[in-house]
Amino acid sequence: MMNVKTHTFDAVIVGAGGAGLMAALYASKSVNVAVISKLYPTRSHTGAAQGGIGAALGNMEDDHWEWHAYDTVKGSDYLADQDAVDVLCREAVDTVIELEHMGLPFDRFPNGTISQRRFGGHTNNETGKPVQRACHAADRTGHMILQTLYQQCIKNKVNFFDEFHVVDLIRVGNQVCGVVAYEIGTGDFHVFHSKAVLFATGGWGRCWEVTSNAHSLTGDGTAICLRRGVPLEDMEFYQFHPTGIFKLGVLITEGVRGEGGVLLNSEGKRFMEEYAPTIKDLASRDVVSRAIFLEVQAGRGVNGKNYVHLDVTPDTVNKYLAEAGEERRISREYIEAKLPDIADFTRTYLGIDPVEEPMPVQPTAHYAMGGIPTDVDGRVVIDRDNTVLNGLYAAGEAACVSVHGANRLGTNSLVDLVVFGRRSGVHMADYCRQAGLPDLPENPAAEVMAEFERIRSNKGSLKAYQVREKMQKTMTDNVGVFRTEATMTKAIEDLRQLRQDYLNVEIDDRGTKFNTDLLEAWELGCLLELAEVTAVSAQARPESRGGHARDDYPKRDDENWLKHTLCFREEDGRYSLDYKPVNIGRYQPKERVY
Ligand code: FUM
Repeated sequence: MMNVKTHTFDAVIVGAGGAGLMAALYASKSVNVAVISKLYPTRSHTGAAQGGIGAALGNMEDDHWEWHAYDTVKGSDYLADQDAVDVLCREAVDTVIELEHMGLPFDRFPNGTISQRRFGGHTNNETGKPVQRACHAADRTGHMILQTLYQQCIKNKVNFFDEFHVVDLIRVGNQVCGVVAYEIGTGDFHVFHSKAVLFATGGWGRCWEVTSNAHSLTGDGTAICLRRGVPLEDMEFYQFHPTGIFKLGVLITEGVRGEGGVLLNSEGKRFMEEYAPTIKDLASRDVVSRAIFLEVQAGRGVNGKNYVHLDVTPDTVNKYLAEAGEERRISREYIEAKLPDIADFTRTYLGIDPVEEPMPVQPTAHYAMGGIPTDVDGRVVIDRDNTVLNGLYAAGEAACVSVHGANRLGTNSLVDLVVFGRRSGVHMADYCRQAGLPDLPENPAAEVMAEFERIRSNKGSLKAYQVREKMQKTMTDNVGVFRTEATMTKAIEDLRQLRQDYLNVEIDDRGTKFNTDLLEAWELGCLLELAEVTAVSAQARPESRGGHARDDYPKRDDENWLKHTLCFREEDGRYSLDYKPVNIGRYQPKERVY
């Protein structure tokens, strides 16, 4: 093997966001761990999570982890596995306290306890009214989690390989033996030989035109697993966050509505009163995104465009608080303290001061509910019988446990990261202490090196950005907030053509050092696969559930479709589907009303 260096660790963790770092922290207590990230760790996308991490601490009002569990299951449109949801919501409580003890600078209530605010779909189960459950550090909660966990990992002497891009998984039969990584600074390939591998590589919002996701969110780990024989679960369920900045997609946290902000259409009407009479603007995200879409479709977008207003100006908020009979009032100073980054973003990107005027917002591609199927210990399972692939783990957005089902509640991504990151790290360490180091196959990097060489030296008539833009357009037009048989058929046709076009992409930079042109072209290959898996999985599901809303099948169909999709990649590059049952616990499916 030319230019390939080999490193040996007990456990390799791919991705340095919240899930990867939490897993590394726990695994590194007893085994030798490497964390490999294509970014500098504190640039990971966990840092973009704003509004809060949900945990039923009950600091200001009555709350119980079982209420959190019920809200999560209801939010998921009953597709979440309820055993996993119980783990999520029960362990959320002590995980948040653990983060506090690690030094995370949460905001505080006047009595010194962690400050909590309202968020979409989180309720007092007795009244159906919003409950304060989102523990937060201003509107920088993810940023603070990332910094805190990174500091802890440094203290624990975790080995970091920053700006190393993992590009392949080494698998022999039912055993994982490591990964192949590309060193961005030098262009060298490295083999990381290990007993266990965990993918925590985040989502793939870059499949769509308008997204809250950073440019790095290209689903690499998920696509790599798919290529190495792991099916992907529930990929048709992709979340559109209701409030991205118009055209830019940059997230405006749901915490804005949690603090009292309201959505208004071109007539100045608070339209969520119609769609969700009890919790209005704090209904779950799928409901609010659809409402915005329908308002725009009915001609009530502001200025005739496809956006509505998000209004958190004190006058408006206080008017609605008074109308609701609440004593609380907000002020300019309160907004500046609770939503400083939002105020900063909108002033910088839009020239709009949110304390003075409303913000233009539209649904933005935000979060993958589906992904690499795992059990509650992060072990990857590869078929309808939940057969474990030895040594392979996944956590965070890349994974599907499944705790989010068909629609995730706001704040539950951060909970998912830390709860299942921790469980995966613990299990991985146990596994590594018992397992031997598997033998590597011959030339484990050869296949992916050949693909990189193909991309580097390819002559063609297309640029990667041209293919990417077409993919994003067809996904936005055809596999967006609403879908139909016809739109998904069109998307699948387009994506199959684009995968052919991909072979005709020529890059400009043929060098070895910091060749981002090469990496972006390789990442595009991942996005194209995940886009097609999403469309294929969606087309096969003739019902509407959570984030998968079909105009041609507007109702949920529990009799036939209360089941998880598994999408496999066949050897010829096409996809096939299978299904597995949902774990139903205390909460029987019923109509979802907010
Ligand atoms: O709205 C937000 O702050 C996003 C949170 C989340 O996706 O959980």
